[in-house]
Amino acid sequence: MAGLVPVQKQLADSYGPAAGELESRYEQLRSAFSKTFHAEPECFARAPGRVNLIGEHIDYEGYGVLPMAIKQDTIVAVKKGGDKLVISNVDGNAYKTQTFETDPKQEVDVANHSWANYFMCAYKGAFELLEAKHSKVPEPCGLQIMVHGVVPLGGGLSSSAALVCSSMLAVLAAHGITADKSEVAEFAAKAERYVGVTSGGMDQAISMMGMLGVAKLIEFNPVRASDVVLPPNAVFVVANSLAVSNKAEAAPRRYNLRVVECRLAAIMMTLALGATPEASRSVQTLKDVEPKVAESLGSPGLDACLEAVHKHLHEAPYTHDELETALGVPLDSLYTGSPASLKVLQVAREGGGFKLRQRAEHVFEEEKRVLEFKAVCDGSASADDKLASLARIMNASHESCVRLYECSCPELEELTTKAKEAGALSSRLTGAGWGGCTVSLLAEGRVDEFLQSLRNSFYQSRISSGHTKEEDMPKVLFASKPSSGAAVLQI
Ligand code: GLA
Repeated sequence: MAGLVPVQKQLADSYGPAAGELESRYEQLRSAFSKTFHAEPECFARAPGRVNLIGEHIDYEGYGVLPMAIKQDTIVAVKKGGDKLVISNVDGNAYKTQTFETDPKQEVDVANHSWANYFMCAYKGAFELLEAKHSKVPEPCGLQIMVHGVVPLGGGLSSSAALVCSSMLAVLAAHGITADKSEVAEFAAKAERYVGVTSGGMDQAISMMGMLGVAKLIEFNPVRASDVVLPPNAVFVVANSLAVSNKAEAAPRRYNLRVVECRLAAIMMTLALGATPEASRSVQTLKDVEPKVAESLGSPGLDACLEAVHKHLHEAPYTHDELETALGVPLDSLYTGSPASLKVLQVAREGGGFKLRQRAEHVFEEEKRVLEFKAVCDGSASADDKLASLARIMNASHESCVRLYECSCPELEELTTKAKEAGALSSRLTGAGWGGCTVSLLAEGRVDEFLQSLRNSFYQSRISSGHTKEEDMPKVLFASKPSSGAAVLQI
């Protein structure tokens, strides 16, 4: 158990010394709420976005990751009232108000992708949590909701998890329930999958369990977080490539395809290690393969897994026919409960097959990098030596995302290259990739010069062409420190 979600009485509890800057935002939210619903909100719930420092695309394979919460967050104002769920946004032009029935069993309308679908995921998840963990489930009732989010959308900084976690806390708080952080993280992660992305649990876990001043090693099954103190001279700069990564819409060709490829890799490795096709088919993640490798090769650990990958998985993409012959069943039968994965199989039939060896190699190598990153932070080397090691690890992660996991894109490549030219010790994509943000490691004292230089080399032409605006630059390129996790605010 990670402890109860904090209920705070003042902004400083969440935002520390920066609280003063947040007052006007809460006022704006409060006044939008009272204008729309002619009443004051009962409380607020907030949840931050995140930047992942190391451990990309391995959370859904059961492996630990190492993100930090950022100061950009989503705030939800809530009050019980009426007999419907009315979901509004302070930016009502971009995000239209939507109204739903209060039945928590209703389906999320995946065919019509809308921002409010994320609220519906959270609403369903809140009731699922209550049913699983609480003795008394409250009667559903009408809720009035006003949202104010500043985590850039499609930017790889987990705007969707920030919205799902804050909404889930708002629903629970409106019903007078305080839940455990790790329970909310777990149910929010499951609930977000209702939009059709088979994502892991990193984003929701760090949003719930982030902490001012420290990054976190997040581990799964059960979800838990431990502190990672970053070297004092390390500054992480987030830069948006301006290529929008629409995770949900592109899922069958990108994110969900990778999840399917990893599971198929785990199944094919298990089969090659001597299990029956039937036993192999029950394997879910690459982490599940670790004990089987240890048993078969006589040596435990990730290096043995990598040895097994090289020995048992071939480099050429696997075809449907090849996999079905080996497993003795149609691939669809592995995914009967997951329409999102069935869609992947359908789309992949016309695509180039499944690259199992490359994806598995990335996952095991990336987990080694997570463990090494943490060991460097925990170790006793000088701060400068620590920076050099972290930079090497982060660059290797990016290289692997490009070459083995194929989740980069031309804009991310240009941005990471220019970031290194501008003085970053390392620069890598963060989050799912295929657009969105990069995270670069800088030595303290080099940041201003870096920001100016990257602005000139990457952003100036994009400002001139109207791709982004001068006044948006603070949201597009900024240094970030570990910030607080989610909370309910009674202010
Ligand atoms: C997205 C998902 C996470 C994780 C990352 C990639 O952010 O939501 O669960 O898989 O991509 O590391």
